[in-house]
Amino acid sequence: MRGYQLVSGSSGVYQAEEARISQGVVESNHTGYSGTGFVNLTNTAGSYAEWTVQAGAAAGATLDLRYANGTTVDRPMDITVNGTRIATGRPFPPTANWDTWATASLPIALKAGANTIRATSTTADGGPNLDRITIR
Ligand code: GCU
Ligand code: CA
Repeated sequence: MRGYQLVSGSSGVYQAEEARISQGVVESNHTGYSGTGFVNLTNTAGSYAEWTVQAGAAAGATLDLRYANGTTVDRPMDITVNGTRIATGRPFPPTANWDTWATASLPIALKAGANTIRATSTTADGGPNLDRITIR
């Protein structure tokens, strides 16, 4: 049995277009995304998307972040959970083109109740395009 219970969202999937976005826009001009679009973060350090995830109890989980990077260079991001940085400059390497999506996974710790998960661009290139996160 899982040690946590997701009490909002569908099957632990949280679309990027439903995230709180700072310096970025929801777009749909590339293919392969889920939901109704993806987030194109502004190409500047500090642009971010933030999701609120409800957990029934404190527990470890895996965060999957689906992204596209149609350039030839890494688009690193910091990942924070409830304000604590759990990954610094996590790589989001090229995915061949903006229509090709990949998943980056990392372990996270959730607390009971509302949790904020934020992905922040760390370079002037900005982060990759973001499709969704999945908590599992
Ligand atoms: C292109 C692409 C965008 C992407 C941007 C970038 O403009 O269409 O989806 O976000 O490059 O370099 O970040
Ligand atoms: Ca961008």
